[in-house]
Order: sequence, then C-alpha cells, then structure tokens
Amino acid sequence: MEEETRRAVAAWPRDVPFALRPRFAEIALDIIMRVVFGLRRGERYRALRSALLEVVENDRMISFALMVPSARRDVGPWKPWSRFRDQIRSADGLIFREIEDRWDDDAIASREDVLSMLILARREDGSALSLEELRDELMTILLAGHETTATALAWTFDRLFAHPDAFARVRSEVRDTGSDAAPFIDAVIHEALRVRPVIPFVVRMLVEPFTLGEYELSAGTTVSPAIHAVHRDPDLYPEPSRFEPNRFMGRRPGSYEWLPFGGGTRRCLGASFALFEMRTIIETVLSNVDVLPASDAPERIRRRAFMLVPATGTRAIVRSVGPIAA
Ligand code: HEM
Repeated sequence: MEEETRRAVAAWPRDVPFALRPRFAEIALDIIMRVVFGLRRGERYRALRSALLEVVENDRMISFALMVPSARRDVGPWKPWSRFRDQIRSADGLIFREIEDRWDDDAIASREDVLSMLILARREDGSALSLEELRDELMTILLAGHETTATALAWTFDRLFAHPDAFARVRSEVRDTGSDAAPFIDAVIHEALRVRPVIPFVVRMLVEPFTLGEYELSAGTTVSPAIHAVHRDPDLYPEPSRFEPNRFMGRRPGSYEWLPFGGGTRRCLGASFALFEMRTIIETVLSNVDVLPASDAPERIRRRAFMLVPATGTRAIVRSVGPIAA
C-alpha cells in the first residue's frame, strides 16, 4: 500500500489545484490489482487496469443496473447500455485469462493474493468456484472497495481542510512520531466516516414478520438501517454536525452507533482492510508532501451511484517537501 501510494504521489501535479478523489481512486485500484488480483505491473496489468476502469467509472450505467430489475433491463438498442455491456465483455475476457493462467500456476499455493486463495478455496462439499464465480467475486471486491475507499479519503481531507487544528495535529503525529503511536489519525478517520458516511443507508428485506419499536412489519418489507441518521443522533453524538475527532480518542465505537460499514452478517467484508488502507495512504501522503486546500469553499455533497461524494472531488494543491523515496 505504501509503495503504491508513494509511486502515485511522486507523479501528482505540484503547485496547481487538482481533485484528490480520482487520484485516491487510482491508488485504491492499484492496491486491489496487487492484493486481490495478484498482478505486477506490465503490459497485461495495464490492459486489465484500463478495462476495469472503464467499467467501474461508468457510474450512470452502474446506477441503472442497480436500480432496474434485470427483467426490465432489455432496453433494445440503447447505446450507453450496449457500450457498457461491451466494456464488461472486454474486462471479462481479460479477467478470465488471468484466472486460467493462475489455474496453471504451479506456485499458486505459495501466493498470497485473494484470487489465488479463492481458486484454492473449497466448499463444504469439496467443490471449487467456477470461472464465472471467481470473476464475480473479483468484480464485487473491486466495485465495493475501490471508489468507496477513495471517497472516504477525499472526505477525510475535506474535513481536515475545514479544521486546520486537527490537520496540524495529524501532520505532526505522522511526521514526528511515525505510525506506531498514532491514535489521533484513527480518531480522525472514524469521525470523518461518521460525519460523511460514503454510503448513507443500507437495505434489508424481512424474511419473517418483525416488530420494530411501535411498528409491526410483515415479511417482504424493506427496512433500511439509516446510517446517516444514526450518525447525526444528538443523543449519541452531542452537537452531531461538528467534526470532533476527540469523540473517538482511545475508544472503539459501538456497532449500533457507528455504522459506515453497515452491520450484522452482511457488514462490509473489507472494513478492516479499508481502515488500514486509509491510514496507510494518509500517512504516506503526509510524510511525503504538503497538501493544502485549493479553496475555502466547503464541499457540497453529491450522489454518485450508491455513494455520497464531494461534488468537486476535494480540490487540493500539493507542495513537495523533499524527494520521495522509491
Ligand atoms: C471506506 C471504505 C468502505 C466503505 C465506507 C464501505 C461500506 C460498505 C457498506 C455500507 C456495505 C454494506 C453493508 C451492509 O449491508 O450492512 C459494504 C459491503 C461490502 N463491502 Fe465495503 N466499504 C468500504 C470498503 C471496502 C473494501 C476495501 C472492500 C474489499 C476489499 C469492501 C468489500 C465489501 C463487500 C464484499 C461487501 C458486501 C458484503 C456482503 O454483502 O456480505 N468494502 N461496504
């Protein structure tokens, strides 16, 4: 993670404003390519990376696919949809090639990437995942883990820009003490995910009747744990709209009061990974460059597919503080 962040930051523009969110998305994608797909840079890496980017960045068609049931998606010769299907087909072809090569890899047992582990995994009946199932797992992790993490990072910088004291404390913690003793940065990440949850609500469908407070709900009802509303409850968080990382200093938030990753058996599979990744990326960025807000105007919240993102992507100006070690 550190290596990918350093490589990216070395190529960021200097002294001119640019949006952080897409840059964080590139880092998150490169991390997934290495950790999940198990790929090293090269021609095939580049081809798969750009094919995947075309799919995951097509948020209009992703929204369409999420919101319109599959039976109604046969929309005839609608160009944006048929182009999206083509993009998926070409990404699929490249993913299938990687999976098939990995099947033939004699050293697969010693590999530590998620794809190799999924290939070796067996169900209780001894069967393995099929080619299509492996592709689905990879695409799920990519879609669930790439833009979400990038957006959470962009919001964290947005909140730090608006709170210079907290920002100065994070910076000095990163630069002076190193990462082993750094609880404030964790508190900042928790508080940023509280005030700006990337996914504002999740949904569940009741499989049996359920009593929720004064409501008798029947099976089939859709219930939505409202992440955003819980995070703004003044009984849980006094002055809830205030960004105050000290709320989380030295304490782990309870699972019924802090739910940026959802909850229960379908809680985000990548929550620990994402928190570790966010901390690593913030630390690596701040130990190598100065990051300043490009303007004083607060970021507005915009919907993108299933996420709430900063409208301008958190614009920043980056200044070098010295050469970046490779
Ligand atoms: C800050 C970044 C992230 C946020 C805010 C986030 C948030 C969420 C939320 C709210 C859910 C739905 C949970 C529910 O319904 O209760 C979810 C599901 C999921 N997330 Fe994340 N996520 C993040 C990063 C990641 C990463 C990095 C990965 C993978 C490496 C990942 C993989 C998944 C998967 C596989 C699911 C589906 C779990 C299931 O349905 O069983 N997420 N995430």
